Amino acid sequence: MTAAVTVRGAVKSYGANRVLDEVDFTAAAGEVTAIIGPSGSGKSTLLRAINHLEPLDSGFVAVHGELIGVRAHRGRLRELSERAILRQRSRIGFVFQNFNLFPHLSVLENVIEAPVVTRGVAKAEAVERARELLAKVGLADKETAYPRQLSGGQQQRVAIARALALRPRLLLFDEPTSALDPELVGDVLAVLRDLAASGTTMIVVTHEIGFARDVADRVVFLDAGRIVEQGPPDQVLLAPREDRTREFLGKLR
Ligand SMILES: Nc1ncnc2c1ncn2[C@@H]1O[C@H](COP(=O)(O)OP(=O)(O)O)[C@@H](O)[C@H]1O
Ligand SMILES: [Mg+2]
Repeated sequence: MTAAVTVRGAVKSYGANRVLDEVDFTAAAGEVTAIIGPSGSGKSTLLRAINHLEPLDSGFVAVHGELIGVRAHRGRLRELSERAILRQRSRIGFVFQNFNLFPHLSVLENVIEAPVVTRGVAKAEAVERARELLAKVGLADKETAYPRQLSGGQQQRVAIARALALRPRLLLFDEPTSALDPELVGDVLAVLRDLAASGTTMIVVTHEIGFARDVADRVVFLDAGRIVEQGPPDQVLLAPREDRTREFLGKLR
């Protein structure tokens, strides 16, 4: 079976700073992978490399067997055209820490924008789908609101609905609850739990260890650009093999 996500030998440097250092991992279709690790360890860079927002220096990413951002040509990897990259990226949902909604568009307009503008979906069809998605994230009554009128947790749920509107085959989340007031975290995590239960392939950078334990199929611990340890949550989070993992988890408690 082809993996949903394959990362092989991923290397990325900024000047002398090697931010990803030979990262390898695989996620099966329908699996939830939680990426944990200290600030600056390369978590966002890895996530961004998966949809080619951050091109790698070497190594590659494949999603369902398709190379992302590059193609093989005479034994080398060559960058795809911008158009081809955008097409691939539109099939990978990305949810940011700070929501990144369009401030001048209503909730409904935020969710239908990409399907209508980049996919050419008929507006009526996009609206119907958007309403289903807004109901799913608990915001059916907010479609005419603007982002500034919503709480952070509501904005993040709109961002999730927006990501789902393009029917992605993979969803990436970069610390989706880190910018939220504590009392709003639960609603967003509940949406993530529902998505996980419905078999969506997800990679979630998170500091919510309880969430990772309950929901993730695999946990990857990244430190200084390297995977120190990865495996089932009970192993990595409850019985880590590496001192570095234990030390990191100890600080979170
Ligand atoms: N565009 C960039 N230019 C230079 N350095 C960067 C850039 N993006 C990230 N970095 C550096 O790469 C390292 C990893 O960053 P990042 O992937 O954001 O870590 P994390 O998400 O784990 O906190 C940090 O040292 C950061 O300063
Ligand atoms: Mg980050």
